[in-house]
Amino acid sequence: MNKNTNTIFTHRRSLLKYLASSPLFCSAILGSLTGSLSAKDNTALLKADIERLIKTTDEAINLFDFQRVASHSIPTSHYGYLTTGVDDDVTKNSNHESYSNYYLRPRRLIDVRKIDTGIELFGEHYASPIFLSPVASQKAFHADGELATARAVRKMNFPMLLSTITSTSIEEVNAALGRPAIYQLYPTPRWNITKQILRRVEAAGTGVVVLTVDVPISNRETFKRLVRQDDRDCSACHQGIDEDLSRKPMFRGTGMSGMADMDLMFIDWDFVKRLKDETNMKLVLKGIVTWEDAELCLKNGIDGIVVSNHGGRAEESGRGTIDSLAEIMPIIGNKIPVLIDGGVRRGTDVFKALAMGASAVGIGRPYLWGLGSFGQPGVEKVLELLQKELEITMQLAGATSIEKIQRSHIGIS
Ligand code: FNR
Ligand code: LAC
Repeated sequence: MNKNTNTIFTHRRSLLKYLASSPLFCSAILGSLTGSLSAKDNTALLKADIERLIKTTDEAINLFDFQRVASHSIPTSHYGYLTTGVDDDVTKNSNHESYSNYYLRPRRLIDVRKIDTGIELFGEHYASPIFLSPVASQKAFHADGELATARAVRKMNFPMLLSTITSTSIEEVNAALGRPAIYQLYPTPRWNITKQILRRVEAAGTGVVVLTVDVPISNRETFKRLVRQDDRDCSACHQGIDEDLSRKPMFRGTGMSGMADMDLMFIDWDFVKRLKDETNMKLVLKGIVTWEDAELCLKNGIDGIVVSNHGGRAEESGRGTIDSLAEIMPIIGNKIPVLIDGGVRRGTDVFKALAMGASAVGIGRPYLWGLGSFGQPGVEKVLELLQKELEITMQLAGATSIEKIQRSHIGIS
């Protein structure tokens, strides 16, 4: 091993050490990337596969076309971060597969020439019930990061959730989006830092804060494996954990230092109450998967929930979120908005979740596939394709608006 190789190895070894458990660790590291990403071949794709990849967004037939390009164009370790689930990725896969346990019950003889997919969510109007789930460190997938995503979303007028681990400041993202994004909060045990973030988010005009409660720790093996396959020198962009985290736009200037601050294990109902008392923003909890916790959300005056298992990146429950939604809807009914994400890849998935009672349906990885493949036009095309599939499903089912999508439009196999 020459000196250079040895150095690279050492840097990757220390990166692997970072990845030990905290999901925020991973994102903090990836989010510090500021330069443009030159494409790094993903060795998993054979030459013949690469030749078959779509070259422009116009060629895309469905979302999976972007996944193939992204797996090739995003650097291997970053793609590992994007694609990873936990343990054997069973929950991640279950999220999508579980949708096939539900079938459609289309109604006929309804004039479906005009379709309206508009919704009201937390007092705002959107053109679609498809929302963009909060995803950290988007500059790790494309140099334009969250700005490309926000510009695409602005054209489409979909709801967008912005991660605390954004690699672009909330103020810049909101300007690109043309309205305040819904803000996803990762608090720190240091109340003072959390308070500073809340004040900044309020000042940016945000009316809804989404506290993610599902990922105190995680075991992301696919990520670790793909980091090992990446032979670039990570230290060129990642300069140390403490520094990486405090350089994140939402933590800059808050007095944030040291990884201990990013411990998420402390979050409990007392903390939720404290947060609720601290802000007038609507408070939504993301990561609820059982009726018991849904019931507690109602008892504690929560304004909405996101049924989510973090895209299978938290616990390896093996259970798809659509099945969690099925147990939660009887408890919540229409008392507060219930959003869902995880494994949504088709318009039929969106339709089934809406039929089950969801107010809006989120995607995470698919828009990153678009972003990593083609930047803003890629995100736009992903949203357009999914939206078109939803419209076609509504037309075939005889539901001309979102309110007309009923539980009776689906059955369980
Ligand atoms: C996420 N997710 C996430 N969730 C969150 O609340 N805050 C965050 O910062 C992130 N970051 C993040 C990064 C990456 C790369 C992924 C893939 C996911 C989870 C995300 O919001 C959402 O719950 C899932 O991505 C939905 O599942 P699908 O659509 O990716 O299958
Ligand atoms: C993730 C964190 C940042 O899933 O939510 O990587």
